[in-house]
Amino acid sequence: MFFRVLRWIGISLLAGLMLLIGSSCTMLGLNYASLDIYNKPVASPPIDVSALISDPAERERLKGLLQETLYGAWPEGMPVSFSDWRVIVPDYLEGRGTLEEMDITIGAGDGARTFQLVGAFPHIATAVPVVISQTFGTNCATFPEQPVTSMDGDPCAVHDYGPIVSFIVSAVFGEYIAEAPVELYFDAGFAYASFHASDFVPDDADEAGPAIAALGGSPNPGSTLMAWAYAFSAAVTAMEGDARIDNDHVAVLGHSRHGKAALLAAAWDNRIDTVIAHQSGFAGAALSRSPSGERLDRMVKSYPHWLAPTAEKYAANPETLPFDQHHLLALIAPRPLFLGNARRDVWSDPNSSYRAALAASEVWKGYGETGLKDDITHFDPKADIAYFLRPGGHSVVDDDIEAFLAFLTAHLGQPRQLPNTVSAP
Ligand code: GCU
Repeated sequence: MFFRVLRWIGISLLAGLMLLIGSSCTMLGLNYASLDIYNKPVASPPIDVSALISDPAERERLKGLLQETLYGAWPEGMPVSFSDWRVIVPDYLEGRGTLEEMDITIGAGDGARTFQLVGAFPHIATAVPVVISQTFGTNCATFPEQPVTSMDGDPCAVHDYGPIVSFIVSAVFGEYIAEAPVELYFDAGFAYASFHASDFVPDDADEAGPAIAALGGSPNPGSTLMAWAYAFSAAVTAMEGDARIDNDHVAVLGHSRHGKAALLAAAWDNRIDTVIAHQSGFAGAALSRSPSGERLDRMVKSYPHWLAPTAEKYAANPETLPFDQHHLLALIAPRPLFLGNARRDVWSDPNSSYRAALAASEVWKGYGETGLKDDITHFDPKADIAYFLRPGGHSVVDDDIEAFLAFLTAHLGQPRQLPNTVSAP
């Protein structure tokens, strides 16, 4: 009893500490994002909508600007190879599907890097849409208590997903910050696959640069965000030959830093049909010229490896950027785009993300789509740009998953009720 009490005191203290760290790095704390859109600057410089729609050279010009300033090179043509799927749980979720794993290798020569993609496939007799996510948590944390491969190469054991640390992280950043709600994706008729981004390029200012430089590409990714974006693309390559997957219904999903990577991946890779960028913030959907929230100057100091070295000079003076993030969003048009936000997540600047979406929406309209609904508080999952703003802070919680699924279902599939046990097709 005494030890149990002691343990809970320890856990509470740790949770308090994490909350403090969390609120200072994400400004979870006291502020609310402004809902006032029309008394704030319109995203600038303007998008040349007709050029972007009619002239492929305009697309390439914009991608060139993104690379030269903030993100560095997209590693076009960098080799991707992958193993067959290995079934690791044949009767996953009480027989509703299988849990499988494959190795993906990106790069050439000694510096090529391998990571594991974990896939959950429902037993459905038709090709299903898939959500490919890249995660903060290790694969062990994303699929707790499943024998997926841990970072040390053995099947995950309890110490790999660390129930206490998981408990604290979930308490601060939401139940689904790590764990994947696979049964909900199955309920909606989706397959789900994910990988731990740091297994490819570590999220570490000292380690990322050397890892990227050794990849053996020509060119190598120009930054960690570009590397993670390319990993999304590699996962699409690895899955596209799978008959169980509907290749015209591939969504990528990322939260925060991985939301930034998801947007980049879709801008470069047209095989991605739909994007969920949740709380992607600066260098994601938020305007670099906005003075609220994190801002690029703080990002380049705290996370120097995320962007290219050239970003530092623009971060100090974002007005000199020849584009803003509405151009990045515009490169995704006319594909459906979900932008997740939270009212207290001022750090990721929901207000300027909405203004970026509003400006980019003209491109969706130019393609004959409806674009963004003209109300920051109204979430319409059917909209081509679905802007979602909920109460609360920087996290992935039930309401987010519900919104993701409403959006995915509206754009990529109809909800299907699955029997509890069906045999494999
Ligand atoms: C930090 C960083 C953000 C990032 C976030 C995250 O708060 O400043 O830019 O989006 O981490 O990835 O959770």
